[in-house]
Amino acid sequence: MAEPYIIRISSQKGGVGKSIVAINFATSLKALGHKVLLIDSDFSNPSISVYLGLEDANIGYKEVFMGRVDPVRAIIPHSATGLSILPGTISARQFVPNRREVDALIPKIKRLNYDFIIVDTQPGYLAPEVLKMYGEALIVTTPEMSSLLAAIKLAHVYNKEQLRHNLVVNRVRNRKYELSISEIEEIYENRVVSVLPEDEIVPLSVADHIPAYSMNRRAQFSRAIGSMSRIYSGKAAGSVAEKQGRDAEGGGLLAFLRRLLGLR
Ligand SMILES: Nc1ncnc2c1ncn2[C@@H]1O[C@H](COP(=O)(O)OP(=O)(O)OP(=O)(O)O)[C@@H](O)[C@H]1O
Ligand SMILES: [Mg+2]
Repeated sequence: MAEPYIIRISSQKGGVGKSIVAINFATSLKALGHKVLLIDSDFSNPSISVYLGLEDANIGYKEVFMGRVDPVRAIIPHSATGLSILPGTISARQFVPNRREVDALIPKIKRLNYDFIIVDTQPGYLAPEVLKMYGEALIVTTPEMSSLLAAIKLAHVYNKEQLRHNLVVNRVRNRKYELSISEIEEIYENRVVSVLPEDEIVPLSVADHIPAYSMNRRAQFSRAIGSMSRIYSGKAAGSVAEKQGRDAEGGGLLAFLRRLLGLR
């Protein structure tokens, strides 16, 4: 049995759309015929259960992490999408896994019988050790400078930890004041793997507690998510966006901002 391809859905800045991307990406991979587990690893504000209208769980990813329960026992089937879900549990105190917990968890997760494991996370990262669990991280950003600069910082953490990453630009409205995709690619020094539009289907689907992709596959947002899933469907074990070998230093404002952040 091949190991699952584990994808971390992440951002450095909060509220950019990680949970929405995680839910819909998982749903569309499932619709392509893959076995998919969706994990809520946001220990601060778990929101997958909220978005999908699931009852509050007593056991979830945190309890699995702490070794209190086997992952298989904490996974629940979601009949509307066919996904398996390992939900988050709400707690007053922030949970930060220690190295022993991380080392015990990783083989348990890798043994699970899924093609893809999509992991929704809280902004930033809690423990660098956990990053070695993943085959890849998707960094979600919006087309704004503050969000992108935070994304670049996270990309540098991943580079240091040797975790492959790709960039997803969400909530694109194609307005003049937004960063263009080519500006974003210049700063990221790589191609963007997915451009997801701002789309009313998202809040509508949230209100109905179903993924946007299940509500209307023809909506703009759903089509874009579907294109991303087709890329991953074919290339689960390989790099998705190839390095473009651009001049790393560049010129003008963007290079200045990179230097300001001490990135190069
Ligand atoms: N493409 C989109 N079009 C319209 N609304 C969107 C889109 N993506 C996300 N949203 C909205 O943005 C809000 C934040 O989304 P979401 O909860 O997925 O962000 P997040 O990055 O997971 O936040 P947090 O950092 O708090 O976990 C939600 O209200 C969601 O409906
Ligand atoms: Mg979230």
